Formats: sequence, structure tokens, C-alpha cells
Amino acid sequence: MKDLFGKALLDYQNGNYTEDIITSTSISDDDVLPLPYLFRDFKDMPKLEQKALKLTKGSVLDVGCGSGVHSFYLQQKGFSVKAIDISNGAINVAKQRGVINAEIKDILDETQTFDTILLLMNGTGVFQELSQVSKYLSHLKSLLNPNGQILIDSSDIKYMYEDEDGGFWIDTNTSFYGELDYFLSYKGEEELPMKWLYLGFDTLKLACEAVGLNCELVIEGNHFDYLARLTPAQV
Ligand SMILES: C[S@@+](CC[C@H](N)C(=O)[O-])C[C@H]1O[C@@H](n2cnc3c(N)ncnc32)[C@H](O)[C@@H]1O
Repeated sequence: MKDLFGKALLDYQNGNYTEDIITSTSISDDDVLPLPYLFRDFKDMPKLEQKALKLTKGSVLDVGCGSGVHSFYLQQKGFSVKAIDISNGAINVAKQRGVINAEIKDILDETQTFDTILLLMNGTGVFQELSQVSKYLSHLKSLLNPNGQILIDSSDIKYMYEDEDGGFWIDTNTSFYGELDYFLSYKGEEELPMKWLYLGFDTLKLACEAVGLNCELVIEGNHFDYLARLTPAQV
């Protein structure tokens, strides 16, 4: 990973904002990801994220924290927060912005336990592929304190496969339709392609049930997106 995402965050943080990140996927053309959005404050967050922050309780792990937008907000509210990200630049920025406990770490390497685990801005993206969802969910479950919760958002992106006649062109012989190749470029440089997973609520719920997690739909967004709350199933 060249960490162009982290480089962009660092540029913005250090007053060198001249360009936005450009993203595209295996099923969509170039799109602009405005850097200021990655530094949004509470009032500019989607209602799903605002709801997740309102539901937060106890000790918090913010997975894939980026610039630390959610961590910083919660820290200001008095929560004990640990922010992790695989991006060196992101953690550097989160620290510069005042997130006290921020570490470069892959979620699969985390071992502490928490009352609330946040995965926001398409949190299922971190799982990368449908075949890896059980592994990630089981691991996340193992990081929960008793009565702990995981708050995660995603979208059902079936609509992206809809043609003008209202039909769908999903190729059922290939991989799951929510598995995308994700391409990012910044200031003329291209990041190595990444895998990024979108899961509709029903698919997430099935995957949760398979690993002993309850999956509750908290709130739906305006465009096939939703926030879910996962808790260990009672045995
Ligand atoms: C879409 S960004 C979201 C950033 C932030 N949560 C926000 O809402 O602005 C996803 C973040 O997850 C991080 N990430 C991806 N895979 C990860 C993993 N396995 N463990 C920890 N962080 C990861 C990326 O580096 C990136 O910063």
C-alpha cells in the first residue's frame, strides 16, 4: 500500500489542500472524494453516523478511524477511545488532531476488549470479501466486553447494477455483487487496487447469525444505506 489516502489526509491537515482524492470501482467511473468530508464534524455527518455516536457507550474502539472524526468527537464527550487504522498517515493525522490513543494496527491484530466497536463509512468494507466476513465478525465478537456492541454501517449496492429499463445485470457466475475492486488516485499517483465490500442488511444479518451475533437494524439512510447494531446472541 502506498498510503495515498494517508498522504491526502496529511496534506489537508498541514494546509496543503489543493486536490481531492479520485476513486473508482470495478462497476463505476471516476468519482471525487472531497478531502474536507474526511474531516467532517458532527453536524455534517450522515444521520447514520450521528446515530452511532449517540448509541455509543463505555470504552470505544474506532476501527479504520481515518483522520479520527468519530474518535475525536467521542473523546471530547468524555469517552475512553482507542482509534486504529492500517494507514500510517491517518494515524499521524488523528494524533495531530488530538486523538490521544491512536495506533497503526490492523483490526485482526487487536486484542483488547471494548464496550462499543465502531466501523463507520461503509464499515463492512474492511472485511474486503464475502468469504472473509465470518473471520472478521468472529474476531470482532471476541473483542466485546459483556453487554458490548458493534455499530457498523453499509449499503445494499444492488441499485448500482440496475439498467435504464429497471432490470439488473448482476453476473451470478462471478463473485458476490457487493465485492468491488476499489481504485484510488491522488495528485496523479495511483494506489494499489483494494478490495472493498458492501453488504446489504439481510446478508449481514445471516453472516452474524452464523457466528452467534444478533444483528439489529438501527436506522436506514436515504440511499440503501443502514446502521446495524451487533450484540452477542444469548446462549
Ligand atoms: C472509508 S475510510 C473511513 C475513515 C473514517 N472512519 C471516516 O469515517 O472518515 C476506511 C478506513 O479504514 C482503514 N482500514 C481498512 N482496512 C483496515 C483494517 N483491516 N484495520 C484497520 N483499519 C483499516 C483505511 O485505512 C481507512 O482509513
